[in-house]
Amino acid sequence: MKHADFTLTDDLIYLNHAAVAPWPKRTAAAVIAFAEQNSRYGSHFYLDWIKKEAELRQQLKVLINAPSVDDIALVKNTSEALSFVAYGLPWQEGDNIVSSNEEFPSNRLAWQSLANQGVEFRQADLSSSKTPEEALFALVDSHTRLLTISSIQFASGLRLDLERIGAFCKKYGILFCIDAIQSLGAVQFDVQAYNADFVMADGHKWMFGPEGLGLFYAKPEARDKLKLTQYGWHMMKDTHNYENLPWEVHPGARRFECGSSNTLGIHALSASLSLLLEVGMEIIESRVIERSDYLKAVISANQQLILLSNQKSQLKSGIVIFKHKSIANEILYQHLQQNGVVCAMRGGGIRFSPHFYNSLAEIERAVVLAAELDL
Ligand SMILES: Cc1ncc(COP(=O)(O)O)c(C=O)c1O
Repeated sequence: MKHADFTLTDDLIYLNHAAVAPWPKRTAAAVIAFAEQNSRYGSHFYLDWIKKEAELRQQLKVLINAPSVDDIALVKNTSEALSFVAYGLPWQEGDNIVSSNEEFPSNRLAWQSLANQGVEFRQADLSSSKTPEEALFALVDSHTRLLTISSIQFASGLRLDLERIGAFCKKYGILFCIDAIQSLGAVQFDVQAYNADFVMADGHKWMFGPEGLGLFYAKPEARDKLKLTQYGWHMMKDTHNYENLPWEVHPGARRFECGSSNTLGIHALSASLSLLLEVGMEIIESRVIERSDYLKAVISANQQLILLSNQKSQLKSGIVIFKHKSIANEILYQHLQQNGVVCAMRGGGIRFSPHFYNSLAEIERAVVLAAELDL
């Protein structure tokens, strides 16, 4: 039986939240209502849209435990926010940035593109030390300006100890940047406990939002270090005073929002977050981990399948990777897709990423479908 908050069709087992999640019922309803309102009244209710935007900022503040809504900018996606940091910081030749060799391209390309300014991008092999955190620390030296890492690795499910990394960065005066797209909406997150300087994530994965609307958290001292790379009316301190000359830049993270908001996306993401916050992130995290633990147990017990997910960290995520003993990933992936299991091919295997609403029975059914394939 499907969860009451979702209308996913019965012939699908949806295990792809680490890629793009389905919308909850209320999100679809919010988008339909917005479309109807817009088509009948245009922007007549613009002030309500501004209120919805403020509500979304408040929800995001709660989700990441930010000290203030002013620390959060609404951005297009993770990549845009990473680029704000990469192109905002005043680099000097010889500086280096420490990261891992498991990052999604967005958390690599922005930094590698600084090579022409003499900035080195160092990629730790996270399995090369006793802990993945120590593998990162081993690459740090007196020229390290920033450490950037995915909170949970997209192709292994490895979850980093952000508190430990944040404490290390603080001790050595290094900026700490977190690509949190595989965490937000799946597990609890606390920018203050992690001493994070910059955090970014798009809303379309575990947060159940639409593509193209994400958040960029920047701590006040850290955001003041960033040179602005985009300009427009929306970043003014006195946003709606269009005649003001000269103008002042917004003191908050809103300075990174140069133009009109993604109002449709804001209505959708706010509806999705209302579900997560209503259930509570503590409960969501425990259910996500219960499901990934269950998946790991069922996969490990199956003679035909091999569990690949990184087991080194004590911290758990919603991502589980496995492969078949004798069947190629491409064939197994096709078989699963054809049988209604929505998943991805990542990290040398098949990636299952269940969310809190998936039933244990459907998760087991997906594993049985993977194991039953016989050539
Ligand atoms: C770790 C990570 N970062 C970033 C992204 C996507 O970035 P964007 O929000 O810019 O599309 C993904 C998508 O798979 C991801 O897994």
